[in-house]
Amino acid sequence: MKVLVVGGAGYIGSLMCRRLSDAGHQPVVLDDLSTGNKKALHCDIPFYEGDLGDQLLLKSIFNKETIELVMHFAAKIQVGESVEKPDLYYENNVAKVLRLLNSMLENNVKRFIFSSTAAVYGQPQYLPVDENHPTKPINPYGASKRMVEIILQDYEHAFGLNSIVLRYFNAAGASLDGTTGEAQRVKQNLIPIVLENVEKERTSQIFGTDWDTDDGTCIRDYIHIEDIVAAHLKALEHLSKNEGFDIFNLGTSEGLSVKQIVDLVSQISGKEVKSVAAPRRPGDPGKLVASSQKAYDILGWQPCHSDHETIIRSAYNWHFNRRY
Ligand SMILES: NC(=O)c1ccc[n+]([C@@H]2O[C@H](COP(=O)([O-])OP(=O)(O)OC[C@H]3O[C@@H](n4cnc5c(N)ncnc54)[C@H](O)[C@@H]3O)[C@@H](O)[C@H]2O)c1
Repeated sequence: MKVLVVGGAGYIGSLMCRRLSDAGHQPVVLDDLSTGNKKALHCDIPFYEGDLGDQLLLKSIFNKETIELVMHFAAKIQVGESVEKPDLYYENNVAKVLRLLNSMLENNVKRFIFSSTAAVYGQPQYLPVDENHPTKPINPYGASKRMVEIILQDYEHAFGLNSIVLRYFNAAGASLDGTTGEAQRVKQNLIPIVLENVEKERTSQIFGTDWDTDDGTCIRDYIHIEDIVAAHLKALEHLSKNEGFDIFNLGTSEGLSVKQIVDLVSQISGKEVKSVAAPRRPGDPGKLVASSQKAYDILGWQPCHSDHETIIRSAYNWHFNRRY
């Protein structure tokens, strides 16, 4: 199947392209390279540099390539920045996606897979969080993702646009062959931040050491990017045989604490990882883990590479041997 991967030069999108090719599909990439990197892609993948909100460009891609399904990864993803610049987030993550969806419909492309996030849930009311948990995002990034989910539900109902929403919890790790990984200049996920601190011999801050968890530090659900990408392939298979709209969590239901991450990095690197206790950050829940039972029951997906050792080791190997 020919698949338009919007945001295909980014952390997760670039691995998606590799695994689509491995599975016999034909990825075509649209990316503005705002945070992505062309070096993350095989040179034989058709690549269009540009903005996903550019309707003329979209029209020419849909005319030239016989796209059957679109995967969307092209979001702005920094929570803090979204609070300071909500206009940027609603424009990029909502308004431009609307233009993409309209362009798909004009060109009779009716299958869409959307990268959403645990941030749509806001503060957890129970654990593990399942797809029926109320959605009350507490920042514009999470709200922008929730808005697209609502649009997709309405577009399925009104226009027959079939879509699957995958709500990832904490994406982590690097490709198992070491060819692609997290390469953003501004690090915002905990594991790359700790690795960068080790590299630059800086001290990592631990926000909150008095949570109601075994070691007092926050627990999050880390999901390896190979597992995220595998879930997209399952979603693609599902959309080839089924119509409709559906939402799935992608997590492990098990968490890893900040202290466990610091200890694992220390163990794998053989170096001391300096850390210091800092106050809790407003809005941070003590524990956030997902139930992915629905993805298992309906898509037949389960995480295979999200054990703590594989996540940290692959991230470590990538960080200290990266090509770009
Ligand atoms: N990384 C995580 O922890 C995480 C967790 C949950 C959900 N997600 C979602 O997964 C998706 C991918 O995240 P990522 O970590 O790979 O981010 P990333 O920044 O590495 O990738 C995003 C890609 O989209 C491109 N892009 C952004 N705006 C664009 C635009 N207007 N037009 C064309 N291209 C554009 C960027 O250049 C980049 O290549 C995002 O939608 C994000 O919300 C990520």
